[in-house]
Amino acid sequence: MKRVFLIVLDSCGCGEMPDAAKFGDHDVNTIRRISEDPHFSAETTKKMGLGLIPGLSFLGEETAPTAAVGRMTEASAGKDTTIGHWEIAGVVSPKPLPTYPNGFPEEVLEAFRKATGRDVLCNKPYSGTAVLKDYGEEHLKTGALIVYTSADSVFQIAAHEEIVPPEQLYAYCRMAREILQGEHGVGRVIARPFLGENAETFYRTPRRHDFSLLPPKETVLDAVKNAGQTVYAIGKISDIFAGQGVTEKVFTQSNEEGMAFTLAALDKDFEGLCFTNLVDFDMKYGHRRDIPGYASAYAVFDNWLPGFMKKMGDEDLLMITADHGCDPGYLETTDHTREYTPLLIYGKGVTPYCFGTRPTFSDIAATVADWLGVSFECPGTSLLSDSVRMETKLTRLAEDAMKMAYVPYSGYRVGAALLCGDGTIYTGCNIENASYTPTVCAERTAIFKAVSEGKRDFCMLAVAGGKNGVVEGLFPPCGVCRQVIAEFCGPDFPVLVSTGMGGYRKFRFGELLPNGFSPAFMDV
Ligand code: THU
Repeated sequence: MKRVFLIVLDSCGCGEMPDAAKFGDHDVNTIRRISEDPHFSAETTKKMGLGLIPGLSFLGEETAPTAAVGRMTEASAGKDTTIGHWEIAGVVSPKPLPTYPNGFPEEVLEAFRKATGRDVLCNKPYSGTAVLKDYGEEHLKTGALIVYTSADSVFQIAAHEEIVPPEQLYAYCRMAREILQGEHGVGRVIARPFLGENAETFYRTPRRHDFSLLPPKETVLDAVKNAGQTVYAIGKISDIFAGQGVTEKVFTQSNEEGMAFTLAALDKDFEGLCFTNLVDFDMKYGHRRDIPGYASAYAVFDNWLPGFMKKMGDEDLLMITADHGCDPGYLETTDHTREYTPLLIYGKGVTPYCFGTRPTFSDIAATVADWLGVSFECPGTSLLSDSVRMETKLTRLAEDAMKMAYVPYSGYRVGAALLCGDGTIYTGCNIENASYTPTVCAERTAIFKAVSEGKRDFCMLAVAGGKNGVVEGLFPPCGVCRQVIAEFCGPDFPVLVSTGMGGYRKFRFGELLPNGFSPAFMDV
């Protein structure tokens, strides 16, 4: 009975993504930051291979890791919880969810006033407690609803429980949810009921409720549910997916509770996915910029893991990841940070390896579907497949071959690795010459080495290159090399171009040389 336990350490990013500046972030790395605090401890995750993840080698590179590990790129244009989780579940969002730093536009408010029959106060980004102090008394007097937002994509409605009973407030939220679609499709509409006598004593009650946007496409949760399997949501997972694809759920108040329910789930009899979100990392420590708190919470989780792993059955898969960053040492904002996220995959059926840098969180959804034997189409690739293992290996070998480059003139180091039909791999580097034109590219070195050893049946080529040996963006094969490839390979031949640290973009050769001249045109 196959099961996946997918645990999201909310906001536990592992270093800024190349486009972090576009999201207002620089020099952010949540794991690095907390690792510098004395409360941090990561003995278990380090043994699993945390330090092998690109950018985390300062944690120490475990020689015999117990998990498959790597880092995940967020392909979506966002750094919020909703978009991060959707991508983990197989849905990439090309546009960020809308935010309202200047409040909601009149068209939205007008529709909301009409639907509820009540006026609106505030309409600005505001702190949840200050908004009660500043607008609570006016709300008591007039019955107008306090509408506010934050740096996140949220429409929040605060109302006193004696003026607007919670059920009524939830009904208003549903009305707002209907209005806030399409262009104004905010991630969440949140009911914020409160009580108290006056500005000094107002307090929020626990009857907060979130009304999330429905995921725009089928997620892996739907796929698992539709296959007749269980999708057990722990913590805020059910809210994030607006309940879609969830078959059982439990809400939690803390990381401790989330971990306890996840551990208890091992004793439940089910086939499918147990999906947990541990939100304290983000909510209690990340946004509050509390480094020791974050580091301690990580240590508690790391310490909890061995007990969980010991209880896992032979067909259980554990996946640990994050949905975005929230570097507690980044003091320019209290917002999330645009970061890569770590992924650790552990289980008896998993061969440990480092899969480098993957292009989308959606590889997680593909891996879940693969393990559970559920069919699901998404932009990701299963990290348990032999082909991904081989692609990663070949890309790494091409990156390693860059070290051999003889480049006194250009300084561009290029490496290539060519996989032959019999499983052998030939690597090559570029070799320059004082007379320039005799220079040979890395790809041709690898291909000529193989051909001169009697090999002509090629399965895949990986290329890596960059000025001074640093891979920055793509360094694809030159035209001459493409022509040489065309001599031996057809349009479906896969060419992997490294994006650095084991990450790659996969091309069909036909994309790199369309309508090329090949042996097919010669009468031989
Ligand atoms: N180079 C390669 O090795 N492969 C290519 O496909 C493009 C170019 C090398 C040749 C030269 O040593 C350096 O990169 C700069 O052109």
